[in-house]
Amino acid sequence: MLDLANQFRSFSAPAMSNSFSPKTFRPGIVESQMRRTADAHDRSRPLLEVISTMPGAPIRDMVRALNSAGHRAARGGPVTHNTVARALARMGEEAPKPPRHRAPKGAKAAKTIRARAEQYEVFRTPAYAYLPLLDYRPEWFVGRGCDPSAGDGRMLREIISRGNMGPHWASDIRDEEAAKLADIGQVAVADYLTMDDPPRSDFLLTNPPFTLAQEFVERAKTHVSGPICILQSIGWQTTQRRAKWLRTAGLAHVLNLPKRPQWEVDSGGKIKSNVWDYAWFVFLPNHDGRPQMDWLSDN
Ligand SMILES: C[S@@+](CC[C@H](N)C(=O)[O-])C[C@H]1O[C@@H](n2cnc3c(N)ncnc32)[C@H](O)[C@@H]1O
Repeated sequence: MLDLANQFRSFSAPAMSNSFSPKTFRPGIVESQMRRTADAHDRSRPLLEVISTMPGAPIRDMVRALNSAGHRAARGGPVTHNTVARALARMGEEAPKPPRHRAPKGAKAAKTIRARAEQYEVFRTPAYAYLPLLDYRPEWFVGRGCDPSAGDGRMLREIISRGNMGPHWASDIRDEEAAKLADIGQVAVADYLTMDDPPRSDFLLTNPPFTLAQEFVERAKTHVSGPICILQSIGWQTTQRRAKWLRTAGLAHVLNLPKRPQWEVDSGGKIKSNVWDYAWFVFLPNHDGRPQMDWLSDN
């Protein structure tokens, strides 16, 4: 950066000396401005590490996550909407646009459902994101399964259609999903992180709310005896804090999706602006050592 400033000074100063007075052109100012820009880039990096794990999330959720993770804005105050927008802009990223849902005019109930969907990060998983995992290791999905943020229960339903009748356990924090889950087995409407005693299960697979994935894994370990499969962005594994946790968390496999998912939303549309690639992170009991990385195939 300073080299650039020097080049700029030695190249530009003589050429400009006729038109710029020493008062208006001061190389020292150029240098300090460039240094400030470089410092600002460095400050943005930890924020972006968190932001990159929250694809599709509205900026207000990023602000909440950053503040609760202890990040501060440049001058030591809390992270604000502008802090996040500026951090993204500095690194050449566009602020993720929140999904737009259009409820029919006057449909108050629909609006309420939409607000809840945004609050609880309801991005439904397309089949091409979970079928390759079930094909990859069918032996992981035997016995009683569970999905604690099941949405409409599509992943457990696929396991049933492949012959494992369960009964499984499906749960979601939003009560509007309960009726759709009835055919899966045991159903709960609950906050997974605070509910009492989730039932003993042999495996878990879920696409959790993106901001709570780590907490979901920790909770899962209290009641799941086999594989815990979590769908997350590949950037999830790269923050320093999370890397430290992942090293000892029993992460056994990182399985890259063949295709970047386009989340389905309840307006009937798809979020095509997802700019993050995804992988299944599979935690196995008593796993020690480094995870294996592989690529799932799109059959
Ligand atoms: C990313 S969506 C995935 C939905 C579904 N698993 C799928 O794959 O289509 C996250 C889901 O987590 C639910 N959720 C959010 N916070 C939760 C919590 N604390 N406990 C249980 N479910 C939660 C939301 O209601 C939403 O259905």
